[in-house]
Amino acid sequence: MFPVYLLCVLFVSEAVCMYSSKALEGYPAGYLADCPGTAIPQHIPLEDLNYLTIHVQGKGNFFNLKNKYNYYQMKNLAKDPQIDFKKPTVMYVGGFLDHPQLPFAMTIGVVYKKLGYNVLLLDTNRFTTVAYPVAAANMRTIGKRVAEMLAILSKFGLDPKKLELVGLSLGGHTISFIAKNYRFQTGMNISRITGLDPSGPCFRNLGPEDRLDQTDADFVDVIETNIDGYGMAAPVGHVNFYVNGGEFQPGDIFWAPCNVVCSHIRAFTIWISALLNPNSFIAMKCDSVQEARNKDCYDKNPVVTNIVGLNTDRNTQGIFYLATENNFPYFMGLKGLKKENEFFDSKLNLSKDTSWSFF
Ligand SMILES: *[C@@H]1O[C@H](CO)[C@@H](O)[C@H](O)[C@H]1NC(C)=O
Ligand SMILES: *[C@@H]1O[C@H](CO)[C@@H](O)[C@H](O)[C@H]1NC(C)=O
Repeated sequence: MFPVYLLCVLFVSEAVCMYSSKALEGYPAGYLADCPGTAIPQHIPLEDLNYLTIHVQGKGNFFNLKNKYNYYQMKNLAKDPQIDFKKPTVMYVGGFLDHPQLPFAMTIGVVYKKLGYNVLLLDTNRFTTVAYPVAAANMRTIGKRVAEMLAILSKFGLDPKKLELVGLSLGGHTISFIAKNYRFQTGMNISRITGLDPSGPCFRNLGPEDRLDQTDADFVDVIETNIDGYGMAAPVGHVNFYVNGGEFQPGDIFWAPCNVVCSHIRAFTIWISALLNPNSFIAMKCDSVQEARNKDCYDKNPVVTNIVGLNTDRNTQGIFYLATENNFPYFMGLKGLKKENEFFDSKLNLSKDTSWSFF
């Protein structure tokens, strides 16, 4: 009710009291919705492809050395001692400015390796350390080149049915361009692609050919954590998880706001936790994204659920609301299906005696 009182105060001199209403306020356009020209692929000279590399995750700890192979060295990568194409393979693709030697790739690499995967960490750093809209346009060309790399690996035994791509932020669209081009080049689908809060800036108003879409692979799942800021609101996957409504996440220190970057990155930490804690993130189906935003998907009859992580049911598709805690490992299990455990309502509800004890 607070905003309503505020509007009343602001307009008291007019003797008008306005209630918050979408008809009056409109809907968010989202941060950097349009970037004219960004859907045109950038020219990337062939010699620059020496910088387009894949790091192969080794066994062992965080800081182990990884073998690197550039665009022209895929035959060598196929013979790397860490690679066994009888196992499933994952490729992680980072976002704007990301690099395989930064914490995101280093963490996810170790986790997937422990789960028995061949782990490929794509290095797009050379092509994303430019103005963001240029990076976005670069990823279209890079997607095509990486598809060529994967097509060569397929000749050496990489089975696309055992291949999964995971992309964070801008990487959430890079995996789309890789998958689209891979199908164009080989006639085969990649098995699964997972978008971790795929970028909204420069993408949110584009069509399915120009961004992540469910037609890109056999199965596309998306974790949404900052849909009007760095992420995008559209349910572009087969299964779309709107974490705590998808707009903003609860802060790790609960009274400190978790704004754009903090909320955006949460998609990654939730994915890591979901890999480490199978079947622990249980989400409930909603009828619309608006319903998810409003945290209004509780108490459906029947309740339809799905699981975040490697055990997602590919046949239970649609829009899902996922309630989480504010701290790692974030999951709530079955508790999350009960409205009284919803984080903001239960912690920030001033009608409850407990609220003030947190301060
Ligand atoms: C590839 O995946 C798309 C989207 O999931 C699907 O419509 C299409 O039939 C698949 N194609 C093949 C060759 O399996
Ligand atoms: C806030 O707490 C009160 C008292 O426990 C409860 O009656 C009310 O339903 C809660 N409101 C919400 C939105 O959860």
